[in-house]
Amino acid sequence: MKFMIAYTVALLSYSSLSSALRHEKRQNSNATNASPKIIIDNDWGAPDFYLILMALALDYEVLGLTSNSANTWALQSSLHALRGLELGNLTSCIPVYKGADYPLLNTPSLFQSWQYIHGALPWQGVFAPENLTAQAAGFDPTSGDPNTINPVAFVGGTVPDQSLLAGYQAAIFMIESVRKYPSQVSIYSAGALTNIALAIRLDPTFTQNAKELVVMGGYIDTTLLQATGDFLQADINSDINLKIDPESSKIALTADWKNVTLVSAAANNVFINATDYAEISSVNNTYTQAFVSKYFPVLPAWDATAMAVLLDRENVLTNSTEFFVDVDVAWFSPYYGEIRAYQQILAPMGQQLRNVSYAFSVDEDRVKSMMKQAMMQPRTCADV
Ligand SMILES: *[C@@H]1O[C@H](CO)[C@@H](O)[C@H](O)[C@H]1NC(C)=O
Ligand SMILES: *[C@@H]1O[C@H](CO)[C@@H](O)[C@H](O)[C@H]1NC(C)=O
Ligand SMILES: *[C@@H]1O[C@H](CO)[C@@H](O)[C@H](O)[C@H]1NC(C)=O
Ligand SMILES: *[C@@H]1O[C@H](CO)[C@@H](O)[C@H](O)[C@H]1NC(C)=O
Ligand SMILES: *[C@@H]1O[C@H](CO)[C@@H](O)[C@H](O)[C@H]1NC(C)=O
Ligand SMILES: *[C@@H]1O[C@H](CO)[C@@H](O)[C@H](O)[C@H]1NC(C)=O
Ligand SMILES: *[C@@H]1O[C@H](CO)[C@@H](O)[C@H](O)[C@H]1NC(C)=O
Ligand SMILES: *[C@@H]1O[C@H](CO)[C@@H](O)[C@H](O)[C@H]1NC(C)=O
Repeated sequence: MKFMIAYTVALLSYSSLSSALRHEKRQNSNATNASPKIIIDNDWGAPDFYLILMALALDYEVLGLTSNSANTWALQSSLHALRGLELGNLTSCIPVYKGADYPLLNTPSLFQSWQYIHGALPWQGVFAPENLTAQAAGFDPTSGDPNTINPVAFVGGTVPDQSLLAGYQAAIFMIESVRKYPSQVSIYSAGALTNIALAIRLDPTFTQNAKELVVMGGYIDTTLLQATGDFLQADINSDINLKIDPESSKIALTADWKNVTLVSAAANNVFINATDYAEISSVNNTYTQAFVSKYFPVLPAWDATAMAVLLDRENVLTNSTEFFVDVDVAWFSPYYGEIRAYQQILAPMGQQLRNVSYAFSVDEDRVKSMMKQAMMQPRTCADV
């Protein structure tokens, strides 16, 4: 029952930029070497452009967007990212790099076999069985061929030009970016951690060159809610981002970053409600139109919450703790892909774990306000 209003977005025709101009260093840029920088790695869906706008609104330099396979395949996801940029003429100042199609080990059939033994997840993301009826209704592709592009799913039904992708190796882009700006780049992850794990394995200095990792995911102790709550409660308390690629989750969360933050259940109370919708709709621009037509309000604003924590930690994060963290990578475990937390004196001796910040709560209205403002007054390439 995906929320979809039949709302035709009036698309503006954009003069296409010459490829030589694209991604060139910005002229008259307000961003300086000192600007905080971010790479946004996500399993992009149609309305997720607000993440980009939130970062721009807080004067972050968005070095690039990267895609992973979690809700849908990395290719479809990268094209959603590109489409999101197109809506605000941002393609000339923010590049998109496609990431890995598959997790390190997991595949649709392995995942289905795991579910057969340990029980189905309410939301199976890209590993849900292929469903052409759902695709025709505007859902993103799942299972089947990772190269599937579903035009109906994009804002306005418009598939962006695939040749505008800046590259197909997200991990390399991340490595090069953090080398270029040591200790200045925040890595935001709101999907599978595959690209990040690949970057870690390709370059042992990657994590130390980055400023921090902020992850949307890392649910803990939610089995009671999954058993006694309704389907939606079970859904919003499961950890699909980490469970899509358990091995990458473990590599990413145990690496020697300077700082790691997990935002999970703290986002479960952040909902865009009818008042928020009315406020967003009161401004008519390409982003507010697309948001109103594509956003799915039944689910928490997970990704926006993790982004808000990254951008304005001091004001957004109202309560947090720190613990040492591992990820279960035993395929025969029902917790495969979920975190296990330890206090320092009880942490396992036989492996090097690290401590992470874990969000208990956030200022929910502030998160929503950041999200709304970003779309209502979107930045352009000229003012970033
Ligand atoms: C994008 O650029 C086109 C052509 O220059 C212009 O007409 C349009 O207003 C711009 N759209 C936004 C959202 O800035
Ligand atoms: C496929 O998607 C349609 C539309 O969303 C849904 O009604 C149907 O139950 C799905 N089929 C399966 C086998 O999940
Ligand atoms: C909707 O959210 C806003 C904050 O964004 C809040 O002020 C308002 O009370 C909420 N409305 C309802 C009905 O919960
Ligand atoms: C928003 O503006 C577009 C033109 O850019 C127009 O076609 C559309 O009707 C407007 N929508 C609303 C809800 O005002
Ligand atoms: C932070 O959250 C924890 C866990 O819910 C709680 O025990 C603690 O009292 C909270 N601290 C503050 C300052 O609210
Ligand atoms: C966790 O790491 C931070 C930063 O390195 C450190 O200040 C803090 O003491 C650590 N916490 C524990 C429990 O080791
Ligand atoms: C991460 O950085 C924040 C902000 O500087 C700090 O409060 C927190 O303790 C750090 N967490 C870890 C695990 O190092
Ligand atoms: C960027 O700089 C220009 C010229 O100095 C200024 O007018 C504009 O407000 C700045 N934009 C932002 C977002 O700071």
